[in-house]
Amino acid sequence: MASPSASDQAKQGLSWMEWLQGWSNVIYEVLFQKVEARHLKTPLPLPPLNNLTCIVTGSTSGIGLEIARQLAESGAHVVMAVRNPTAAHSLIQTWQNQTSSKDSLNIDVMELNLLSLESVVRFSEKWNLLGKPLNVLINNAGIFSIGEPQKFSNDGYETHMQVNHLAPALLSLLLLPSLKRGAPSRIINVNSVMHFVCNVDPNDMNFVSGKRKFSSLVGYSSSKLAQVMFSNILHKRLPSESGISIICVGPGAAQTNVARDLPKILQVGYQLIPLILFNAEEASRSTLFAATDPEIPKYCAQLKWDEWPACAYISYTCRPMNPSKEAQRMDISSLVWEKTLDMVGLSGDCLEMLLEGKETQCRYGAHLN
Ligand SMILES: NC(=O)c1ccc[n+]([C@@H]2O[C@H](COP(=O)([O-])OP(=O)(O)OC[C@H]3O[C@@H](n4cnc5c(N)ncnc54)[C@H](OP(=O)(O)O)[C@@H]3O)[C@@H](O)[C@H]2O)c1
Repeated sequence: MASPSASDQAKQGLSWMEWLQGWSNVIYEVLFQKVEARHLKTPLPLPPLNNLTCIVTGSTSGIGLEIARQLAESGAHVVMAVRNPTAAHSLIQTWQNQTSSKDSLNIDVMELNLLSLESVVRFSEKWNLLGKPLNVLINNAGIFSIGEPQKFSNDGYETHMQVNHLAPALLSLLLLPSLKRGAPSRIINVNSVMHFVCNVDPNDMNFVSGKRKFSSLVGYSSSKLAQVMFSNILHKRLPSESGISIICVGPGAAQTNVARDLPKILQVGYQLIPLILFNAEEASRSTLFAATDPEIPKYCAQLKWDEWPACAYISYTCRPMNPSKEAQRMDISSLVWEKTLDMVGLSGDCLEMLLEGKETQCRYGAHLN
């Protein structure tokens, strides 16, 4: 009998044992993160960052807001990539008034709505046309529409998959010319321990086959796993000479607006557990560490050299960790890579074309380097 293909195996989902192990990771993180991360200072001390340009998506709330503020206060040029520019401008005003530095903060705002792939293309075109180097792209924006029914974007994709994985993947690829210009540079994906509790079926990334019952939990966790799998292949395919590192990060479980869709009664419970949950400043530490620690590019290069099956993953303790066993499956990761390129409207050779500075077409808008 022929052995099952990778996509057949992906359809079968996690075994009970893997599912239990996944959930024990999630529960351990929630219960013990404060103890495990007790060696870290809050805020995380940062070096002067005057030579860095960083794009931070979703920086009007929660973890992204903290990341943007702290990078800017350490001297970085920060671009807030947000769907609500008015909110971003008002935050900048507040930060400028509060800063102790004699220089004003170097922050720009650019509109980006991840629910529209056209908006992602427009954003990238606009940034690339400036011809400026980009040192750090932080894909932070994300949604977890807890308890809500399945929804689709105008592009036709399940909304968790689009906002948390497809749109950031497209953004990362289209910004490669600027990241190459800014090398050594980093792409950082704010991921989640929830990627441990699911699998991804590359033939059903939109959850429409009916083989799996959709819930917001399935949508969220699968989008985060798809992000790690896509990053594995990006990490493998980016030539060392490009100088671009890719890192996934676990922020820990934090009290932010991510629970805005919880039923009111559960939100009361959520507010009562600050003893175990991080605040946004604490949850920003692992991303800030991944964005600024000088050892990170060497660590990524070492993983490549060792042919490790996954990209770098930094946990909420600011230490390297292994993503889930499922996330380390190169066969499924390759299928997720191919499917993602197809869904965001890019060709299989787009990575090489973008790095070589050649014109690349995207179904969601012509893209010129
Ligand atoms: N909080 C946690 O416990 C936790 C745990 C693990 C991972 N994470 C991850 O951490 C990241 C940040 O989450 P958070 O907890 O800080 O949540 P949050 O407070 O809800 O912030 C999410 C940010 O994403 C933005 N955003 C949402 N949809 C967008 C879209 N279509 N286009 C552009 N921006 C959009 C939001 O913009 P608006 O302000 O305009 O709504 C907001 O700025 C997410 O990727 C999340 O999955 C969080």
